[in-house]
Amino acid sequence: MNWEAILAPYKQVIEELKVKLKGMRSQFEHEESHSPIEFVTARVKPVPSILEKAELRNIPLQDIEKEIQDIAGVRVVCQFVDDIYTIVNMLRSRNDFKIVEEKDYIANKKDSGYRSYHMIIEYPVETIHGQKMVLAEIQIRTLAMNFWATNEHSLNYKYESNLPKEVQSRLQRAAEAAFKLDEEMSKIRSEIQEAQRIFHRK
Ligand code: GTP
Ligand code: MG
Repeated sequence: MNWEAILAPYKQVIEELKVKLKGMRSQFEHEESHSPIEFVTARVKPVPSILEKAELRNIPLQDIEKEIQDIAGVRVVCQFVDDIYTIVNMLRSRNDFKIVEEKDYIANKKDSGYRSYHMIIEYPVETIHGQKMVLAEIQIRTLAMNFWATNEHSLNYKYESNLPKEVQSRLQRAAEAAFKLDEEMSKIRSEIQEAQRIFHRK
């Protein structure tokens, strides 16, 4: 398989989405001072991870692009939980891509303790062979959710997804603590933002 050729449109998609989301961020900073976007990251899934996922799920190679929806992955990280839904609504109202699936793992957290909002989109990308529809996954989460997910991901990697019970329950408690932090920060949000506005002006 010519992976470089297959993955080129995905690379294009994440670059375009990064530009668009970062553009939203700077527009917010100019117009409202509080941006619901703290930072944006993106990656194309490495080939070994694609192959591993395909094997694990019995996906034939010719179905990879249709069945693996996170070959292109973009992450939007926010300060506050409410910001997540601001982004979600803005993404819903755009017409440069189509949303094919939404999963609210904040209203419905996973057993692991994972929280985030996921969107699968179908993004039309222009290639030298014409337009191509590419699936991409957008994960939207708070800084606290991101901190938790990053650490949990490292542990899963270390234990090859067989976390000891003790580690699992600690992670579940940590997830609740992270969410408590989000809730507490939300309660003093207006004060935090006022402080940040003053700081911004200086
Ligand atoms: P997968 O990508 O294989 O999980 O497909 P899925 O259809 O089960 O989608 P899901 O929405 O459950 O997960 C998509 C992505 O969200 C994953 O690839 C991870 O990046 C992230 N994710 C989901 N669950 C967890 C979790 O428990 N911990 C962490 N750290 N990340 C998770
Ligand atoms: Mg999953």
